Amino acid sequence: MPVRFRNDFCRPFPRVNELLVRRTAEHLLLLTERPDTELSILLVDDRQIAELNKYWRRKSGPTNVLSFSLTEGDDTSMAMNLLGDIVISVDTAAREAKYEGISFHARLEALLVHGFLHLLGYDHEKSELEAMRMHNKEKELLQQLTSQRRKKMMKLAVNVDHVATLREARGISEPDPVLAAGICELAGAEGIVVHLREDRRHIQDRDVLLLRQTVKTKLNLEMGAAEEIIKFALDLLPDMVTLVPEKRKELTTEGGLNVAGQKKKLKSVIGRMNDANIPVSLFVDPDPRQIEAAINVEATFVEIHTGRYADATSEEERDQEFELIAAAAAEAYEAGLRVNAGHGLNYVNTTRIAGLETIEELSIGHAIMARAIFVGLDQAVREMLGLML
Ligand code: PXP
Repeated sequence: MPVRFRNDFCRPFPRVNELLVRRTAEHLLLLTERPDTELSILLVDDRQIAELNKYWRRKSGPTNVLSFSLTEGDDTSMAMNLLGDIVISVDTAAREAKYEGISFHARLEALLVHGFLHLLGYDHEKSELEAMRMHNKEKELLQQLTSQRRKKMMKLAVNVDHVATLREARGISEPDPVLAAGICELAGAEGIVVHLREDRRHIQDRDVLLLRQTVKTKLNLEMGAAEEIIKFALDLLPDMVTLVPEKRKELTTEGGLNVAGQKKKLKSVIGRMNDANIPVSLFVDPDPRQIEAAINVEATFVEIHTGRYADATSEEERDQEFELIAAAAAEAYEAGLRVNAGHGLNYVNTTRIAGLETIEELSIGHAIMARAIFVGLDQAVREMLGLML
């Protein structure tokens, strides 16, 4: 679908999720049954839109959105399926979002819909009746976009290990990760993840046994491929397991599994799990060799390690790591694997990953628990879900 997108807004904040804008525009073309129509979107700052406003509309000062229709009375453009250009000021969108108390991207979406309707010939300045017609159509399209996104929205699985870490620091019974899991589910999480480590440093057998009985969504048991834990999983029958490399001294899982280097062993573990109807996910770095090996050993899922993306110290490095994740996810998805991702995701870096349509679920622990200390677990989960829309 030909959506041309250019971002001439040069400052780092607010940061625009270009994929999200492009996808919204594509959905608008589909919703209005114009799959082959070309639409162009340009993001600018207040100064640039004020110049356009002055030149084309003889109005001074910035505005939020301008639409330049190519179809009005122009048969050539109609024949070529060119709809026109929408120009949005990122500065004004951010100001209006703050004023309305909504997210920057929600405001950007509303402006895109408004500009788009102008291109289709709606004009609220013509008459009161026209204004009402345009307002109603805007509402309808925004609702359709939201419900379409909900259907396709990436799921959030919350890792509750850190609740157990806090409990173990005191050696008593509180806080309880089982209770935390229930709160996460009530707030909208669609999965609970726990890592039962060989050294039992946080999650205990008792936690996993209780979670098996109480989790209403999906229990994902993260584990190393040690025989004792494999037997535990085969007795427990979680909804899925995620195999990770496990080292005694590490603070958290440090890297992806070397699937390519232990295909025989992993294929046998996956076979045993599959015989018990437990799908297996392999936690791997975004490396084509590892994705290929995961396909070979017949894993059901891969979970792509987002740690290097999260730890990147420059924009350039983060962009590179993001591209590796996007490419690995696409390769796995196209080969028929189901794709999850996680590690190091937080309230700043998650939205970009959540824009990848090939990934179905994110596994997030530390950032949510850290925020929960200040705002409560329910709100911390809801805020994260809000960033994944
Ligand atoms: N996925 C895997 C495989 C992990 O090992 C972890 C950490 O326990 C996570 C996701 C969650 O990482 P974080 O706690 O950094 O969100």
